Amino acid sequence: MSEPRKLYVKSFGCQMNVYDAQRMTDTLAREGYVETNSAEDADLVILNTCHIREKAAEKVYSELGRLRKQQEEQGRKTMVAVAGCVAQAEGAEIVKRARVVDLVVGPQSYHRLPELIASAEQKRGVVETEFPVEDKFDFLAPPTRQAIARRGPTAFVTVQEGCDKFCTFCVVPYTRGAEVSRPIAKIVEEVARLADGGVREVTLIGQNVNAYHGLDERGRPAGLAELVRRIAAIEGIARVRYTTSHPRDMDDELIAAHRDMPALMPYLHLPVQSGSNRLLAAMNRKHDRELYFEIVERVRAVRPDIAFSSDFIVGFPGETDEDFADTMDLVEKVGFAGAFSFKYSPRPGTPAATHADQIPEAVMNERIYALQALLERQKASFDEACRGRRFDILLEKPGRLPGQIIGRSPYLQSVVVLAPREAIGTLARVEIREVSTRSLAGEVLGGEFFAGGAAASAAHVMREEKVEA
Ligand code: 5AD
Ligand code: SF4
Repeated sequence: MSEPRKLYVKSFGCQMNVYDAQRMTDTLAREGYVETNSAEDADLVILNTCHIREKAAEKVYSELGRLRKQQEEQGRKTMVAVAGCVAQAEGAEIVKRARVVDLVVGPQSYHRLPELIASAEQKRGVVETEFPVEDKFDFLAPPTRQAIARRGPTAFVTVQEGCDKFCTFCVVPYTRGAEVSRPIAKIVEEVARLADGGVREVTLIGQNVNAYHGLDERGRPAGLAELVRRIAAIEGIARVRYTTSHPRDMDDELIAAHRDMPALMPYLHLPVQSGSNRLLAAMNRKHDRELYFEIVERVRAVRPDIAFSSDFIVGFPGETDEDFADTMDLVEKVGFAGAFSFKYSPRPGTPAATHADQIPEAVMNERIYALQALLERQKASFDEACRGRRFDILLEKPGRLPGQIIGRSPYLQSVVVLAPREAIGTLARVEIREVSTRSLAGEVLGGEFFAGGAAASAAHVMREEKVEA
């Protein structure tokens, strides 16, 4: 038998890309490719790229430069594919600019990878960036039980792709196209399969996930709240999260879901971008700061233990000191447990990129420094307030030292505990004892594995053994 071909996928950017990378890997596994974790011994390298900011997009070219050097040194040609959002945005340009690239494939065509690779083997420079009529999810392979077990007890599942909001800074509507939701039955089937393989927590992902409006079994559109309810009911699934959401799409049902569904984790990523109404309008965000405050209040009212995280952009064209002060004020008023903040990066083809009043780099640096300092203080005080609290921690993987297991709190904090390896994949009741900048540490008080084990976790452990055998 010939050696299996080795595949190395490197993902940049958001969780959608992490999910896509897994589905590409699963699809190519069916063609006999096995995963490797280094480009050096790969026969096929896929760079799964991000176009959201200039810096992210540039990474692909430095990575391609590295690959070219590596191939020269090794005296061996490896097939190189560029996938993801840069592939979608730049298409044939990439093949022209980087001779090492054999194939360019946009996010909507991953199901066609096997045939595209076959044609790139015949002739370099295959470019596929169409938005095909067929649903790629119908043709992408599901993960095998081994792949599910290897990836651990948490999983991402794409439920919605694309965006119709057209924020003036954002490339997503161009790279990922119009908003499309997968039907409920398909998502339920996928999650049931993951749960059967030992997954306990799913994060439903989409560029604008709370605009989800997939069809239910009777052909009627259902919202995200309904989807979450269906996912939470699947045996084995203990936790559900969703990301990334838009304030405009936090409807009554979804807010009520935070009250009614204990499985829905009390941690909500709700990007606001700016605290200035003038800028929110210029960004075409379709909401003002008052609406943001109102949503935060309403979710807090039904789920008092909820914590928020957000995304911010500083230095959007025309941003004045006053606008920025409004952002700082919004942060002070809401209080975030975590956040991502970015300097504005003009993206080709987006309306804001051609604004005359771009903000000088020095001003952006000053503002982002101040904003991040404030957000870090808030995160530190949130973490500190967790000392002495008791949480259910989903035990995910072995820690650095023997006996240590790393899990996640409801708020996505990493929590280190002492526990046996067999407890991975179960929920432990943990009291938080130590708090540091990167993680928390706690003591296990009990839980599915420790109190003799709930049926679900015992079954899970048995399944793991079967997989490994
Ligand atoms: N410049 C800087 N940040 C951006 N984001 C999106 N587009 C840009 C841009 N052009 C940020 C937003 C978004 C996150 C995923 O990336 O904050 O929520
Ligand atoms: Fe980057 Fe957006 Fe594409 Fe995700 S969807 S990889 S954030 S450009």
